[in-house]
Amino acid sequence: MTSTMNAVRIHAYGGPELLHYEEVPIPRLHSDDVLIRVQAAAVNPVDWKIREGYLRGFLNHQLPLILGWDVAGTVVEVGPEVTGFKVGDEVYARPDIERDGAYAEYIAVKASEAALKPTTLDPVHAAAVPLAALTAWQSLVDAAQLQAGQTVLIHAAAGGVGSFAVQLAKARGARVIATASAVNIGLVTELGADQFVDYTRTRFEQVAKEVDVVLDTIGGDTQRRSWQVLKPGGILVSVISPPPETTAAADGVRSAFVFIQPSGQQLTQIARLIDQGQMKPILHAVLPLSEARQAQVISQGGHARGKLVLHVAD
Ligand SMILES: NC(=O)c1ccc[n+]([C@@H]2O[C@H](COP(=O)([O-])OP(=O)(O)OC[C@H]3O[C@@H](n4cnc5c(N)ncnc54)[C@H](OP(=O)(O)O)[C@@H]3O)[C@@H](O)[C@H]2O)c1
Repeated sequence: MTSTMNAVRIHAYGGPELLHYEEVPIPRLHSDDVLIRVQAAAVNPVDWKIREGYLRGFLNHQLPLILGWDVAGTVVEVGPEVTGFKVGDEVYARPDIERDGAYAEYIAVKASEAALKPTTLDPVHAAAVPLAALTAWQSLVDAAQLQAGQTVLIHAAAGGVGSFAVQLAKARGARVIATASAVNIGLVTELGADQFVDYTRTRFEQVAKEVDVVLDTIGGDTQRRSWQVLKPGGILVSVISPPPETTAAADGVRSAFVFIQPSGQQLTQIARLIDQGQMKPILHAVLPLSEARQAQVISQGGHARGKLVLHVAD
């Protein structure tokens, strides 16, 4: 193996023009890492938020930085402490966001962050899963403890997180009210939503009432207007900003903020659901690694339908 690879890095914070496709060293393994030959990497909103510098005070990054924290590929080397994986395993992961990411030909990932990829998905589709599906899982299963028969309002149901959240909620036997614009009614209904709200024409609070769980993927005014749809004891889970606890207490409801954590264990459970046909990734577009800049521009536009994926190698 050579010592260098192609990757997309930033050397400074700012616009998409600061993404550089360039030759960089292949990452070195920690003792509990696996080295993955990347076949595909997904693009998520957090990528352009980090590129713009919005998370500078929150995450400990050193520049230059390889972006992208969603990967599918093949294990080509294992650290001496790794027991769960061997060379040749086909894996997927949402790696540690404070290390170099997956817009690259190789990435070093802690073994505990990876899992065998779903057998029914090719690497391009598998790469679209980890970050968004883990966010849906940690919001609906861990934070909200969503139960069969409950009603959940999922905002941005056609987006990366929302499209998995709708399917996960249905797999758990919940009733789903979903928001998106009219162009996405077919997709969101096919994913299992019981009720659709076109947020551009109808205020969701006129439709959603007595809801057990709200998944807030939008923040701001959407979060503020979401309190009133909850039944007493219900929970608003935001992945955007911590909901003010005083508001929750005053309304007799609960709130939680989720910032996704890597988990190979949960990815194994998610792979099982996918292989059982209960969840699938939706792809907005697949672009080559060298077009990461264009992929981030689309992501930043805020209207991706499902996931954007960079195809790195077969
Ligand atoms: N805290 C965490 O750990 C965590 C993890 C993952 C994501 N996030 C954050 O969660 C947000 C969503 O992530 P994502 O990957 O799902 O984003 P995404 O895929 O880019 O979301 C795009 C979707 O948002 C929909 N949308 C835009 N404005 C809307 C509105 N006012 N109401 C309803 N839908 C609307 C669009 O639907 P239309 O085209 O139909 O308008 C589009 O389908 C991002 O801000 C991301 O950074 C946080």
